[in-house]
Amino acid sequence: MSEPIHIGLLGLGTVGSGVVQLLEQNGAAITQKLGRPLNISRILVRDRERPRQVVVDPAVLTTDPQSILADPDIAIIVEVMGGTGAARDYILQSLHRGKSVVTANKDLLALYGKELFDAAEAHATEILFEASVGGGIPIIHPLKECLAGNRIHQVMGIVNGTTNYILTKMSREGRNFAEVLREAQDLGYAEADPTADIEGDDAARKMAILASIAFSTRITYPDVYKEGISRITTQDISYAADLGYAVKLLGIAREDGEGVEVRVHPALVPLSHPLAAVSDVFNAIFVEGDAVGETMFYGRGAGSLPTASAVVGDIMEAARNLQHRTRGRISCTCFYDKPVKPIGDIITKYYLRLIVADRPGVLATIAGVFGDREVSLASVIQERMLGELAELVLITHHVREQNLQEALHVLAGLPVVKEIACILRVEGGEAR
Ligand code: NAP
Ligand code: HSE
Repeated sequence: MSEPIHIGLLGLGTVGSGVVQLLEQNGAAITQKLGRPLNISRILVRDRERPRQVVVDPAVLTTDPQSILADPDIAIIVEVMGGTGAARDYILQSLHRGKSVVTANKDLLALYGKELFDAAEAHATEILFEASVGGGIPIIHPLKECLAGNRIHQVMGIVNGTTNYILTKMSREGRNFAEVLREAQDLGYAEADPTADIEGDDAARKMAILASIAFSTRITYPDVYKEGISRITTQDISYAADLGYAVKLLGIAREDGEGVEVRVHPALVPLSHPLAAVSDVFNAIFVEGDAVGETMFYGRGAGSLPTASAVVGDIMEAARNLQHRTRGRISCTCFYDKPVKPIGDIITKYYLRLIVADRPGVLATIAGVFGDREVSLASVIQERMLGELAELVLITHHVREQNLQEALHVLAGLPVVKEIACILRVEGGEAR
């Protein structure tokens, strides 16, 4: 039997436990595929006494990072601790020592990607990060390799499972946001502090990573415009369904001749679009390239074994690259410095719900304000009466966001407009 390749695992939580379990359960086949066994020699944790999801030799657990980072026998470091403090430091130390690094850490990559890739290149090693977006879904490798011959026009995805679960339940069961969020927390899908998921931060980090690869330009987390789902009501989900749309938290990255737009927000998606059928905690990433056309990657975006599936795939790639001395085959691909469009410059369609006075001439006044700002209306429906008031649902044609916002600002100041109750973008084509 050949000598094992030694791995240092940083973290033994949800993902780290999945990695240990997977390497054990499929160890024989993995050894066969690599021609050498993989061995987790040491695991960094904060608390050695904490009960674990998997059985590990207590002697392997350590709270001393240097016992891993400074060990010359450890060739591959797997960072599944999370955060942007110690994790960044340990990854940089590992790269500086020429070790290969595998990470699932989107928070870190979305902020410090350039620093990490530069360090990998400078030390002739590599950093692999398939698990950082879409959990078990292969998307980083497809974008970097299989689709590399394409010019990518658009990447549009559901990249957060918690919010997709909440919106699915609100839509199917008519229950409100707060109630379904509580259920998602009880089921362990949503964190005790669910802010990063429901306010779109988690999805924005993932979209920064995807956009950087798709358009070969560095996009960081602060470049991504984001809105969360906490203001979505069952009323709007129901009206959207009547019009032929599902409401989804979408990550959208597009490039045209003028720059790159990267945004995360809830949006109406035609029920006929493949993303509309992605339910519960599932994720999917829809990619459009000039040669491949439309293609979609679907699966579990989180969880212990699905995420470990991507991490172990990367560990095996790192092991093969070590054996064949081909590390860093594809290093950083951000060759360009493309401008990122401000949200005001995007062009899309909008769903609007307004509460207005029910009087003759009100519709004409509203249409006039939109018309003055070149906002063209595709449809106007009076949904219901609320005492003396009327509830209007409007869909626009494609308009520049800045024009729409200016029109809404004027409308908000009119005495006949009591409330602008909802503004949602409409993406993915026409509802049929
Ligand atoms: P987790 O369950 O909170 O586990 C984190 C582990 O890291 C724990 O074992 C913890 O030790 C250890 N750790 C954290 N900070 C440490 C420090 N400063 N020193 C030593 N050990 C430390 O996290 P997770 O859910 O597995 O996520 C790990 C990473 O994977 C994150 O970057 C996350 O964004 C990413 N990711 C997660 C998922 C998912 O489904 N969970 C999916 C995709 C990507 P103790 O156990 O002793 O506290
Ligand atoms: N919290 C994320 C989600 C999983 O709900 O999809 C980790 O990326």
